[in-house]
Amino acid sequence: MRIDILTLFPDLFAGFLDGSLLGEARRSGLIDIRLANIRDFAEGVHRQVDDRPYGGGPGMLLMPGPVVSCVEAVQRQADAPGHVVMLTPGGRRLDQAGVEELSRRSRLVLLCGRYEGFDDRVRETLRPEEISIGDYVLSGGEVAAMVIVDAVARLLPGVLGDAESALQDSFSGAERLVEGPQYTRPREFRGLRVPDVLLSGDHGRIASWRHQQSVDATRRRIPSNQSPHRS
Ligand code: 6GU
Repeated sequence: MRIDILTLFPDLFAGFLDGSLLGEARRSGLIDIRLANIRDFAEGVHRQVDDRPYGGGPGMLLMPGPVVSCVEAVQRQADAPGHVVMLTPGGRRLDQAGVEELSRRSRLVLLCGRYEGFDDRVRETLRPEEISIGDYVLSGGEVAAMVIVDAVARLLPGVLGDAESALQDSFSGAERLVEGPQYTRPREFRGLRVPDVLLSGDHGRIASWRHQQSVDATRRRIPSNQSPHRS
């Protein structure tokens, strides 16, 4: 898979992209991640990328020219234009099913906003998929792009050491359950013992215990304002 990240702050990604899981996947050619600086596509001596909103209001908006030029230039770098994703708090909230969808694309183009957002003609021109990572406000799309790259990369064949582990993860599988509790050595820690069933060697009992723990953990996670037992 190829992923292009378009941002005004490419330096933010250095440590992240070179880190253990992702760095290894890049070095072994499993994933090709490239950065483009939107400012390189700005015009004039000041290389201006943002301006004040028409009609007034706080903050600055990204101008459509540099953003669209950057996307189009990056798209021309390969045969496939790629699936353009705009990171914006108003987009569709990302979940594991959405991550799986993205991981099936051969090429992603991630467009990071800053300031108060994009001039709306960026959206009208590019018709991107708009994604948010949750209902809170970040000062830019860069952290959201890192979230997407991390979550997508670990689903690509060969990136995780253990081919099984992505299937076992929380939110994977048909039921979208979270993982229940897990234990390693020692068998007792500060008086807390590992549940006997896990030491029983009975794989059938262990599997059904784990499944029930996942169901319970998933149920506990449902926010109380959506629960039938509203408090
Ligand atoms: Cl994608 N961008 C920004 N600026 N804030 C967010 C977000 C994205 N997702 C959640 N909050």
